[in-house]
Amino acid sequence: MTQLDFIYNRKSIRQFQKQGVPRTGILAMIQAATYAPSPKHQQNWHFVVLQNREKIQELARIVYDSHKEIGRLAKNEQDFKRHMSVINYYTSFKYAPVVILVYGCEYKMIEYKIMQENNASQEILNMLMSPQSAAQAIGAAVENFLLAASELGYGTCYMTGPTHAKIKIEAAIDFAKPGYELMSMISLGVAADNTPPQPSRKPLETTVTFLDE
Ligand SMILES: Cc1cc2nc3c(=O)[nH]c(=O)nc-3n(C[C@H](O)[C@H](O)[C@H](O)COP(=O)(O)O)c2cc1C
Repeated sequence: MTQLDFIYNRKSIRQFQKQGVPRTGILAMIQAATYAPSPKHQQNWHFVVLQNREKIQELARIVYDSHKEIGRLAKNEQDFKRHMSVINYYTSFKYAPVVILVYGCEYKMIEYKIMQENNASQEILNMLMSPQSAAQAIGAAVENFLLAASELGYGTCYMTGPTHAKIKIEAAIDFAKPGYELMSMISLGVAADNTPPQPSRKPLETTVTFLDE
């Protein structure tokens, strides 16, 4: 047991038991998510909770169809098949009793606006935007959610794969928040028995560089 077990115990879960998650638990996880850092504390996120089994299945069908439609752009059957080979990775949320749709809005960077008004080059504007701070904040919030869920005994999977169908998903769930778009989804529930082990990590020494040593 180490102090950091709450991190090491988490793994992505793609198979779930049937039972749901109590509302208080879901709210506790979302509250944890909102304690993530965000650029200039803009808290550029919104969480939509979906628990309707039929609706979750419908979303999985939408993602499947959208993925297939995109795949039709492939120039040959072999590439189409390769494209379709990842479909289970994008639709596994259909096994979860709860799906959290994570919406995000733009990070309003004051210096971007100032430089834009001062006719800064596109190169400068792109450089200001390159950290994609809004998306980074969503990532931080989602990770908080996943760790909280894991601590509370639930399994999760962080998913961005299904978001290519975000327009159709938005229409299907009949939810829209002006200025916000679907950034990621989280499958949530009690993990099924015997889920695959956590994948191993790259060796630490290949992942870190200490300067000045
Ligand atoms: C930004 C992001 C997007 C991801 N999208 C998907 C996804 O669409 N489908 C999926 O099954 N897993 C997705 N994952 C989960 C990764 O596959 C998983 O975290 C990785 O394989 C490491 O496994 P672990 O989470 O069990 O440690 C995503 C993870 C991140 C951080």
